[in-house]
Amino acid sequence: MQWSLIVIFLLGALGVLSAAPKKLIIDTDLFSDVDDTGALLLALTHRDADILGVNINYPSMYTGLAASSLLGYYNHSHVPLGLKRPFSNVTYFDDYTYENGEYASKVAYHWQDDASLPWADASSTWDTVELYRKLLSEQDDQSVTIVSIGFLDNLSRLLSSTNDTYSSFPGTDLVTAKVKELIVMGGSYPSGREFNFFGYNSTATAHVVNNWPTPVTFSGSELGNYVFSGARLSLEAPENDPVRGAYIWYNGYNKSRNSWDPLTMLYAIEGLGRVFRFGNFGGHNYVYPDGQNEWRSESNGREQHYLELVVSNQTAGSVLDHMFIQGAKRAAHH
Ligand SMILES: *[C@@H]1O[C@H](CO)[C@@H](O)[C@H](O)[C@H]1NC(C)=O
Ligand SMILES: *[C@@H]1O[C@H](CO)[C@@H](O)[C@H](O)[C@H]1NC(C)=O
Ligand SMILES: *[C@@H]1O[C@H](CO)[C@@H](O)[C@H](O)[C@H]1NC(C)=O
Ligand SMILES: *[C@@H]1O[C@H](CO)[C@@H](O)[C@H](O)[C@H]1NC(C)=O
Ligand SMILES: *[C@@H]1O[C@H](CO)[C@@H](O)[C@H](O)[C@H]1NC(C)=O
Ligand SMILES: *[C@@H]1O[C@H](CO)[C@@H](O)[C@H](O)[C@H]1NC(C)=O
Ligand SMILES: *[C@@H]1O[C@H](CO)[C@@H](O)[C@H](O)[C@H]1NC(C)=O
Repeated sequence: MQWSLIVIFLLGALGVLSAAPKKLIIDTDLFSDVDDTGALLLALTHRDADILGVNINYPSMYTGLAASSLLGYYNHSHVPLGLKRPFSNVTYFDDYTYENGEYASKVAYHWQDDASLPWADASSTWDTVELYRKLLSEQDDQSVTIVSIGFLDNLSRLLSSTNDTYSSFPGTDLVTAKVKELIVMGGSYPSGREFNFFGYNSTATAHVVNNWPTPVTFSGSELGNYVFSGARLSLEAPENDPVRGAYIWYNGYNKSRNSWDPLTMLYAIEGLGRVFRFGNFGGHNYVYPDGQNEWRSESNGREQHYLELVVSNQTAGSVLDHMFIQGAKRAAHH
């Protein structure tokens, strides 16, 4: 082995050389739960993430505007934004626990100077399926990771989409060609019933999970349920940070929230790394028409995994808090 190779090997082992940034398309609802904003903070401030596009799967104008404010604040104004149509002016109201506050309209309004979209007008956002098709058609084969941290409707539409000006491939073929991995926050493992799967359109969930042609990794509710993050962000992040604002509006000051979406994003960017391992050997996920899911031990010919933690719940929360605060500090600019 040449000296230069040894040096490269050592640097690699020390994590000094990082691989090419991961090309991500993020599919988020950014509406009812604040942990989507934590996931976006991670992705938009991580040097190993190359965000190709953000698609919003909850059809409210305020989710689109909030996403535009966040992209602008974290120096990603160039990233194209899709919003599910037809969208309305609805805002979140917590009639389940009567504890959590709405944040999307507030982030949208108070950080409107950072946004590319004009205030109260989300009409220039992309159609989500069109945006997927455009972005995928422009990328190298098997190079794109899609991270779904909300409902699966638009991915279902993507699979069913037909050829268009961007690509002569129908949806499933386009996904097969371009997507390296789909990462989904949803379901429970090895089996159960979880909101992202049943809460909006369980038919679409079953369509995506049971038919997706590339490798898929699932992050179940049991993973984020016991990992709490966000309180330190409200205490230690720059006061003007919009995700800090979102956590305080939703959750209160110095209070943490479950970490379903940020954990999923951490895996999407860094892989198994220091926090995760796969919980299964073989098998595949199956979703019933009502949104319940179960892990079946036989193979369906596709590589599927679900995640488990290799660290304690508390350590995983500390890793996220540390990354939130470092990201928010690096981005601080006004
Ligand atoms: C903002 O992003 C651009 C590339 O889009 C980069 O050149 C610039 O250095 C970034 N600025 C900061 C403050 O991160
Ligand atoms: C996203 O999904 C919804 C619901 O299935 C659908 O109405 C919409 O057309 C899809 N794509 C777009 C255009 O945002
Ligand atoms: C949303 O509200 C704005 C401002 O009140 C209004 O101009 C717009 O027409 C509304 N849009 C929708 C889709 O209801
Ligand atoms: C889709 O494919 C059909 C059949 O090859 C072709 O006639 C049609 O023009 C294509 N549509 C677009 C939008 O490219
Ligand atoms: C639910 O998803 C299925 C499959 O994508 C779609 O055909 C159906 O129109 C969707 N229903 C609603 C209410 O959006
Ligand atoms: C934040 O909450 C923790 C635990 O609940 C508590 O120990 C700490 O004193 C609080 N810090 C502030 C600044 O409120
Ligand atoms: C996280 O907490 C839950 C509930 O107490 C527990 O069942 C689980 O084993 C914990 N996970 C780890 C990795 O310690």
